[in-house]
Amino acid sequence: MKVWSLVNQKGGVGKTTSTISIAACLSALGKRVLLIDLDPQSSLSYYLGIDSDTLQHTLFDVFTSPQNTVKLKAIVNKVTVQTSIQNVTLLPSHMALSTIDNALSQQTGKGLIIKNALDCISSDYDYVLIDCPPVLGVLMINAITSSDKLILPTQTEYLAFQGLQRMMSTLEKLRTNLKQDARILIVPTLFDRRYNAAIRTYSLIRETFKESLWKGYIPIDTKFRDASAIGASIVEVAPESRGAFAYEKLTNDLLKHE
Ligand SMILES: Nc1ncnc2c1ncn2[C@@H]1O[C@H](COP(=O)(O)OP(=O)(O)OP(=O)(O)O)[C@@H](O)[C@H]1O
Ligand SMILES: [Mg+2]
Repeated sequence: MKVWSLVNQKGGVGKTTSTISIAACLSALGKRVLLIDLDPQSSLSYYLGIDSDTLQHTLFDVFTSPQNTVKLKAIVNKVTVQTSIQNVTLLPSHMALSTIDNALSQQTGKGLIIKNALDCISSDYDYVLIDCPPVLGVLMINAITSSDKLILPTQTEYLAFQGLQRMMSTLEKLRTNLKQDARILIVPTLFDRRYNAAIRTYSLIRETFKESLWKGYIPIDTKFRDASAIGASIVEVAPESRGAFAYEKLTNDLLKHE
């Protein structure tokens, strides 16, 4: 089982959209996928038509469960729900997760809870995708410590580039402190090639982070809005769109570099 996290402290860069789109591409390849909605805003869960307020169990229970293997596995299985995408299941988030930094402030090993949970179910899935909140805290640390790959969606505009520099240096420090060697892949998103500013920023990202940059980009495509409006992925709703092709290429490249 491989774990890929979608991380960026900046909001609205396409983390949730990328999570759903990559999951749909993996599903089309026959892979078993587990999605983890680590964002207390629960966008991923809502996107998939799951209202966490109505659920008896959510990811919050995993964070507050006794950390022994038998209990953790039982809780994870209770929390898991099937999504409308074949072979894709979800650990839904809950608003209460926004208080988790305080709730676990004294707890040792609080950065390893997701890793421990995933260790209990490692034979049940081929890929785990973790959708992170745009906040650096215990939730994002849990994603980083669990991951084989860190996927960093980033917009191709100048302010986002400055945010990317900060995020990359934070990730480097965290990886050193956590003794973590997950590979980082920067994925340009919402790319609009009609604008020189986008092309210039793309070049700047390439010059600065050549080693970590994916050799492609996700274009702006209105089909993403159409897909989210009906709670499906662009790959299902508009398989011939530029956006769907871009995520298929990204998924294939991610699989190639396993
Ligand atoms: N390539 C794209 N083309 C057009 N619209 C897009 C594209 N990618 C994402 N969007 C839209 O941009 C908005 C933000 O995307 P998304 O929710 O995936 O970002 P996020 O990084 O998860 O945000 P947050 O940090 O708030 O969780 C959404 O309305 C989404 O439909
Ligand atoms: Mg999101």
